[in-house]
Amino acid sequence: MNRMTMIEVKDEWKSRAKIDKATYDEWYKQSIDDPEGFWKQHAKRIDWIKEPTKVKSINYTYPDVSIKWFEDGELNVCYNCVDRHLKDKGDKTAILWEADEPGNAQHITFQQLHEHVCKFANVLKELGVQKGDRVVIYLPMIPQAAYAMLACARIGAIHSVVFAGFSPGALRDRVNDSEAKVVITANHAPRGGKATPLKKNTDKAFEGIEGDVKCLVVKRTGDDTPMTDGRDFWLHEMEGKVGNDCDCEPMNAEDPLFILYTSGSTGKPKGVVHTSGGYIVYTSMTHEYVFDYHPGDIYWCTADVGWITGHSYIVYGPLANGATTLVFESTPTYPDASRCWKVCEEHKVNQFYTAPTAIRALMGKGRKHVEGHDLSALKILGTVGEPINPEAWNWYYEEVGHSNVPIVDTYWQTETGGILITPLPGATPLKPGAASKPFFGVKPVILEPQSGEVLEGNGVEGVIAITDSWPSQMRTVYKDHERFVNTYFQQYKGYYFTEDGAKRDEDGYIWITGRVDDVINVSGHRMGTAEVESALVAHKAVSEAAVVGFPHDVKGQGIYCYVTLMEGTEPSDDLRDELIKHVRSEIGPIAKPDALQFAPDMPKTRSGKIMRRILRKIAEDKLDELGDTSTLADPSVVDHLIENRQNKG
Ligand code: WT7
Repeated sequence: MNRMTMIEVKDEWKSRAKIDKATYDEWYKQSIDDPEGFWKQHAKRIDWIKEPTKVKSINYTYPDVSIKWFEDGELNVCYNCVDRHLKDKGDKTAILWEADEPGNAQHITFQQLHEHVCKFANVLKELGVQKGDRVVIYLPMIPQAAYAMLACARIGAIHSVVFAGFSPGALRDRVNDSEAKVVITANHAPRGGKATPLKKNTDKAFEGIEGDVKCLVVKRTGDDTPMTDGRDFWLHEMEGKVGNDCDCEPMNAEDPLFILYTSGSTGKPKGVVHTSGGYIVYTSMTHEYVFDYHPGDIYWCTADVGWITGHSYIVYGPLANGATTLVFESTPTYPDASRCWKVCEEHKVNQFYTAPTAIRALMGKGRKHVEGHDLSALKILGTVGEPINPEAWNWYYEEVGHSNVPIVDTYWQTETGGILITPLPGATPLKPGAASKPFFGVKPVILEPQSGEVLEGNGVEGVIAITDSWPSQMRTVYKDHERFVNTYFQQYKGYYFTEDGAKRDEDGYIWITGRVDDVINVSGHRMGTAEVESALVAHKAVSEAAVVGFPHDVKGQGIYCYVTLMEGTEPSDDLRDELIKHVRSEIGPIAKPDALQFAPDMPKTRSGKIMRRILRKIAEDKLDELGDTSTLADPSVVDHLIENRQNKG
């Protein structure tokens, strides 16, 4: 199937979807022409303690940037995710927990969720946590992670979830930066058959943690762990000492809900601040319409709560809609590459949302792992996190969806809180690899990168910025508003700048071409590294590819490719030549790789993102500048790559 293929919305998708093409057009127009009216209307999906009379107060003018939504409204986010469902959904499953070892699923009803969250909230209060205090959550994918987040929201504490795959040093920095009062962790974190001693990591982090910080420990496994008197507390022991009732704290719409640290292209991680009212309006609304969620559906997002996807589309968005959200403790390849499909079959999953890197990894393991599973409950497939190459898209569509399930390629960022650009399953004909169309209220523009001039019309390429605010936009960088303003509002005045490149094709579809910091310039030609990668993975021998630039005497920058082969394919000089030729013929002579290295594994973060920074340094022979490799899923990958560096011609 070539790249220009467009898959029309099938009648079956149309008939079950909440939003058809006419509705999309009408609502979109209204959301842009009259955002005040549109969002006032859609804010009603949330139960407010005091309904907002003001909708939006936005100033995108550099350097006075200020963003407020529903600013005189009052609500409690936990109430919206839990309490309000008790009346008619108390016995319905809120959290469907799939433990690391297959066959140990647990159903937690809304009623049970309410009890757990209230207890948890009372424990936090007992430890001295008050409204506005920060709480760091360093937990694996267990129900207690959701309880902890919701308990914070209930009492007005600001959580900061730190991915359980992060090192003690990363945890320490985040606890110190957020000046947290409590760190919540677990004794052990089983994942993929291995257990990480999470509490031990936490103890190590505590060696550098400033101030009087308490540690609350979930007993995930039977293993014991040393406890420090006066500092460490077992959750189950504390729960025995507190009551079952806990009122929801009334919060202003603009009170912070959470901080989530994310890496920028430079410098230390930024504490992205999200607030309450706009965030829950937008995440619940996108969850409902993008995934076409209907009451009774079983929804599964494979992300980790340590990332924004886990916040918005495992916990807050789905639970605000009263959905059953599947929380998955394991990995897509444990005990083998059929795990996801087994889980989909067993729990009759209706919506499945994952990352292109997972799709490519599973594709590389062969179709035999998908075949034979009953995936007939699937109604929507989703992807997020990076551009998806058409080959992976097609594999997902054909092998998983049997060419009968729409794929929503959702483009957004930690900073945006919710999905910005995506097809809607009942409204948008699909193009493999295109994020496609803006969600309601989102007005993207393509800018000429140097001049910042708006590129009107179709068939244009540049960087993507957003013209006006949407409710779940980040409000600031924690304790550093200047950094917020300078990162996102300085370069292109009057816009939120995403730092991504994009094109709008002849049909008005938006394609994200990748971070602009990943763009390379070869002989004066701008080239998305994603473009070269896409060409490489289009070859049948290739499972995954990562491409970086390196300084080149003549061309300015040269192209260095790292390639992971399909299982069962052996690397050879002939294959290397063939792949180089393949790229040259796919994109043009200008894209001919200068070096191509076979990489049995890529240096990936534990969330599956390839760390290009490291690949760039290796390609540049700057081995003393590799920086921190401790957050990699497998740091030994780097040694192999260094040993097998290629001559750059
Ligand atoms: C960056 C944000 C938002 C959840 C996960 C990532 C890239 C994200 C897509 C997509 C192409 C995408 C962008 C963006 N990205 N989704 N559907 N197509 N690129 O969150 O870690 O904040 O990363 O991920 O480059 O800027 P994040």
